[in-house]
Amino acid sequence: MASGSQTAGLTLFLPCAAQTEEFLGDEVRRILTAPDTAIQVQRGGIRIALKPDTLMNAVMRLNLHSRMAQRVLVALAQGSYRSEDDVYALASSIAWEQWFNVAKTIKVDVTAHKSPLKSLNFVALRLKDAVADRFRSLSGSRPSVDTHRPDVRIHLHLDAEHAFISLDTSGEPLFKRGWREDKGDAPLKETLAASMIAATGWDPLGSTPLPLYDPCCGSGTIVVEAAQMACGIAPGLQRRFAFEKLLGFDRQAWQTLCNEARDAQRKPLAPVFGSDIAHRMVDFAKRNAERAGVGHAVQLRGGDALQRMPPSDVPGVMLLNPPYGTRIAAAGEGGRNMQERRNVGFSARDFADGDDGGAFFQKLSAHWKSHYAGWTAWLLTPDMKLPGKLRLKESRRVPMWNGPIDCRLFRFDLTARKVQSPDGEV
Ligand SMILES: C[S@@+](CC[C@H](N)C(=O)[O-])C[C@H]1O[C@@H](n2cnc3c(N)ncnc32)[C@H](O)[C@@H]1O
Repeated sequence: MASGSQTAGLTLFLPCAAQTEEFLGDEVRRILTAPDTAIQVQRGGIRIALKPDTLMNAVMRLNLHSRMAQRVLVALAQGSYRSEDDVYALASSIAWEQWFNVAKTIKVDVTAHKSPLKSLNFVALRLKDAVADRFRSLSGSRPSVDTHRPDVRIHLHLDAEHAFISLDTSGEPLFKRGWREDKGDAPLKETLAASMIAATGWDPLGSTPLPLYDPCCGSGTIVVEAAQMACGIAPGLQRRFAFEKLLGFDRQAWQTLCNEARDAQRKPLAPVFGSDIAHRMVDFAKRNAERAGVGHAVQLRGGDALQRMPPSDVPGVMLLNPPYGTRIAAAGEGGRNMQERRNVGFSARDFADGDDGGAFFQKLSAHWKSHYAGWTAWLLTPDMKLPGKLRLKESRRVPMWNGPIDCRLFRFDLTARKVQSPDGEV
């Protein structure tokens, strides 16, 4: 039997990319200004305990304003389990009818870590049965399942011993801001780009906001996020959310929050620049920036990072996830198929195996030492040998996961080149 407890809908859980929890915690504190909000930073996300009358307001605010959370979940029940039947019993104890009506379509998503259960599909089915049976016993009918565009997503997380059932108030994951149509080859998730920006400490609201520059901007994820921050544009203004389908949704309160967010938009407080060697990517980035409402706030250009001069006289922050491996290989002066790239545009998969980017990064750091004194460069990479390839000593290394890939965000404080040897080294 499941021994469970229903948490009366007073706890929110906001999952985020591993190692970005502290940044999300700071963001949540800024969004939820109520002094009595209890925020707990946990592995994999943030837990927030709320009074019942403030829950829906917090749900709306967090979905609208969080740049780093993957979703906003209402924790409904948790309990120990050994079988699918225990999960069924736990789910049966939840008053689903308080959250949505039988006309809504549902979908159950399952994540698991060290669960002893053999089939996640089967446990999802049992949870769905529990919801359906509860509605049928109350009203004689049951909600339908829609696996593609459900009105209501129910989330089940299983660890080795415990099941956690929650209601997803976001719907589509929050990295889907509603502006991206052009993806490019390996776009960062918007949520991760926002965490990277937070890690650098770049703050357009600071007393002397610094320029931010991504010299390998691809489809523009970092620069669009940064420009929206500079313009005070809430990341959720261009999309819909699952909470709009829940009982008790206060449309007027939501409109008021959205209007407040629109009123808070402003001219950019800090300059943002991006460039990429692939003109196709620059076009993507421009179109994405337009759709995100920041076409006027980002300056985007084509060009080789090994040759581009600083975009501003004031040194600022460079932030990039540089080309890595054979899928997104370096091109240009330090790459291998420069002529091919120039002739046909970007096609990273054309690059041969075995290039570890050594030549590219050596030239990049020589270029930075010559022209980017005073700038701070932050690079996200799974390549732990990157500082060696750049022949620079990092001043910080922040662990960060890019999906399933263990990465580091390295910080390098660039100083002027002192002595130049023939191979371009300091
Ligand atoms: C990993 S992707 C960056 C993805 C980007 N952050 C996004 O979210 O779309 C690396 C980018 O570096 C670009 N690139 C490769 N060599 C370059 C060079 N020499 N100069 C500038 N950009 C380069 C590629 O065209 C690609 O868009």
